[in-house]
Amino acid sequence: MGRRIGILTGGGDAPGLNAVIRAVVKYGVGRLGWELVGIEDSFNGLFERPYRVQPLTPVSCKGLLQRGGTMLGTTNHGDPFAYPDGSGHDVDRSREVKLAMDDLGLEGLIVLGGDGTQRIARQLMEHHGIPVVGVPKTIDNDLGATDLTFGFQSAVDCVADALDRLHTTAESHDRVILVEVMGRNAGFIALHGGMAGGADAIMLPEVPWDADRLVAKIEERRLLGRPFSLFVVAEGAYPAGSAAPGTKIVPGSASQRVAEAILARRPKLDLRVTVLGHLQRGGSPVAFDRILATRMGVGAVDLVEQGRWGELVCLRDGHIVGLPMAQAETNRVVDPAGELVRAARATGVEFGG
Ligand code: F6P
Repeated sequence: MGRRIGILTGGGDAPGLNAVIRAVVKYGVGRLGWELVGIEDSFNGLFERPYRVQPLTPVSCKGLLQRGGTMLGTTNHGDPFAYPDGSGHDVDRSREVKLAMDDLGLEGLIVLGGDGTQRIARQLMEHHGIPVVGVPKTIDNDLGATDLTFGFQSAVDCVADALDRLHTTAESHDRVILVEVMGRNAGFIALHGGMAGGADAIMLPEVPWDADRLVAKIEERRLLGRPFSLFVVAEGAYPAGSAAPGTKIVPGSASQRVAEAILARRPKLDLRVTVLGHLQRGGSPVAFDRILATRMGVGAVDLVEQGRWGELVCLRDGHIVGLPMAQAETNRVVDPAGELVRAARATGVEFGG
């Protein structure tokens, strides 16, 4: 009998999740004869009776390469170790994952998710002996273990496209437009998207901003005959001298703070705010992410075939490798002294600090 493996997606979605699933199906099921069972809504599909699971086959998984989101559904409210019991308390239901897997005859799990989901997967392995292989996922690209995550480039392209569109209207009206993008602790989307879209200033969580510098940038451009500006604001950006906002972010609040600080100094300025929000996570993955996701799906199958449970599929120096899952929990932030920020500064981008 062939192997019977489960697969699930946890945490926020990212363009490319379906492309990973497709690759696992095509390679694992199509070529190696596995049975693959898709578990719905992260681990939650295992907590209900009947289980919410579906057999994944090359026939049932058509058209996935370019499809955004995740066909399996996902949630970031389903930690089996701290599962909401509906009355405001969290209970440990992690043992049920093992029981459900035994029930379903699953040998192990391929877990697609970010740092939180990978931590859960590692704990399931450590506490209950559940064999897991991880595939890292986040549009933020802030996982230290892998050079890139799929979904990031799609988000960057979304920001660049938004800036291209906002450019023409900002220029027509001589306006300052602030564009808020995702990134609570790490400003990679803001930095890459801002550079690709020709932003005049980029505010990152890693570089607290000084409003006088932002106003000076607007003024500098006006004197050069460009009475409009495009500023990118990461949702985790904050003013110098105040505390970082932490992980509980209210969408729009970071750009609102920048807007208020600028308008306090230049009340007559014609300024608008656009919050891109979940547009950055939706829709089709760009070609780069489709390829990376496919490589990672194949990498996950290889790890399972090699019995390398407890490893995470990563891209390192251009190669797909397996690394211990604990490494998925190390986060990375933009280096304010790094080459990318330097290149942006050298081409006139203001960071506000
Ligand atoms: O981590 C991915 C991410 O998209 C962040 O950039 C963003 O802050 C967060 O998720 C938004 O989460 P939610 O979908 O819960 O609003």
